[in-house]
Amino acid sequence: MKKILVTYKFPGNYLNEIKNYEVKIRPENENPEKWLLNNIKDAYGILITLMDKIDREIIDHAENLKVISTYSVGYDHIDVKYALSKGIRVTNTPEVLSDSTADMIFGLMIAIARRLVEGDKLIRNNKWEAGWYPEFMLGTDVHGLTIGIVGMGRIGRAILKRAHGFDMRCIYYSRHKHDVDAQYVDIDELLKKSDYVVLCMDYNSETHHFMDYDKFLKMKKSAFIINGTRGKVINENDLIKALNNKIINGAALDVFENEPLKSENPLTKMDNVIVTPHLGSATKETRDKMAYVAVKNLINTLSGNEPLYEIKI
Ligand code: GLV
Repeated sequence: MKKILVTYKFPGNYLNEIKNYEVKIRPENENPEKWLLNNIKDAYGILITLMDKIDREIIDHAENLKVISTYSVGYDHIDVKYALSKGIRVTNTPEVLSDSTADMIFGLMIAIARRLVEGDKLIRNNKWEAGWYPEFMLGTDVHGLTIGIVGMGRIGRAILKRAHGFDMRCIYYSRHKHDVDAQYVDIDELLKKSDYVVLCMDYNSETHHFMDYDKFLKMKKSAFIINGTRGKVINENDLIKALNNKIINGAALDVFENEPLKSENPLTKMDNVIVTPHLGSATKETRDKMAYVAVKNLINTLSGNEPLYEIKI
């Protein structure tokens, strides 16, 4: 029987919908990279996550592959151009995760502004000594301040909707202008005016290290940077330098240049930084929807129909 490889277990029973193919799920004790390399030769479809790097080497090992279905919106882990040149279609799971990712990013923004994690740590470390007083742990407002959204795709729009609910002043920068209720500005103006710079663009060769020291220098000293897209859109060493030199006020980060982030990383030692382990779409509801879409993409493509979402570059 023709084979489909699945690199990680995911919620729901959607794999049962796959008929006429043998579905092979990676045993948990097997290294994902090696397992894929050893099994891909005669696979017709692979269902992968952003942890699986699909480069030329692995594509060259595949003799029958028709579709790479990634259980993610991002596809920077796949050499899409090479896959397409080999006639392999690539699908992803956008849209169903936009709202939960926007909730998470907005949550991070509020958390860094209002010092939620710092306050929680204070109590746990038994350091809440003085009770309430007028200048105790003052944070920054969210409502009424300016949010600068970089990238106005589905997630950017979902964040914008939330920002309107908080009566924020909304500006954005993107490769193209969009028909949205926010002022389009160039990146320098966005950095200069924003109290919260929220990164929502895709990661690719053009956005690699988009935020570097020069750009941090253009931000307000009181401003925060929030990142929920991919770690590599920020030059992390430059961010650490900017935080150490008090060029900006703080950062809330769900993604990092190297994941998993280790506690030795200087970012984990800073009170004005919040770090979370790439949780943007991590809700039961959303991960279930992503599973539905990823499997549907795979089945549709293999049966000669259109997938729900396809990456075309
Ligand atoms: C998560 O980062 C995704 O790309 O879905």
